[in-house]
Amino acid sequence: MDWEPLVAAAARVREAAYAPYSRFAVGAAVLTADGRLFVGCNVENRSFGLTLCAERAAVAAALAAGTRELAAVAVVADADPLAPPCGLCRETLAEFAGPELPILLAAPDGRRRERRLGELFPDPFRLPVR
Ligand code: THU
Repeated sequence: MDWEPLVAAAARVREAAYAPYSRFAVGAAVLTADGRLFVGCNVENRSFGLTLCAERAAVAAALAAGTRELAAVAVVADADPLAPPCGLCRETLAEFAGPELPILLAAPDGRRRERRLGELFPDPFRLPVR
């Protein structure tokens, strides 16, 4: 897995983060199964609960472009320990990827850690089919 294009894209879009309340900028890049790259940044709101995370913004961009299968995700934030996707984002990723989905957590100073969605979100809800 060549993470460089994803990390570069996530680091670039992180500069567009709208985070005046937390001052915590996040950038995310998703690689789709058909080989395309989409990005998202966090978008906060004065009504805090409306805040959109970078990962979900990136997934929405991928879906809007007509793809529904994710192949890899990179998240860049300046955090120690490295910031993994929040619960809502894990649930969203699980909608469009299986447990093998590789997720790279990265920081601007070069720290990196690779995880799988199944490690971060081992027991996703499945809607019973009737
Ligand atoms: N944030 C993300 O963008 N992704 C996550 O998975 C966790 C949190 C953002 C939301 C908010 O703007 C800021 O980080 C602080 O929580």
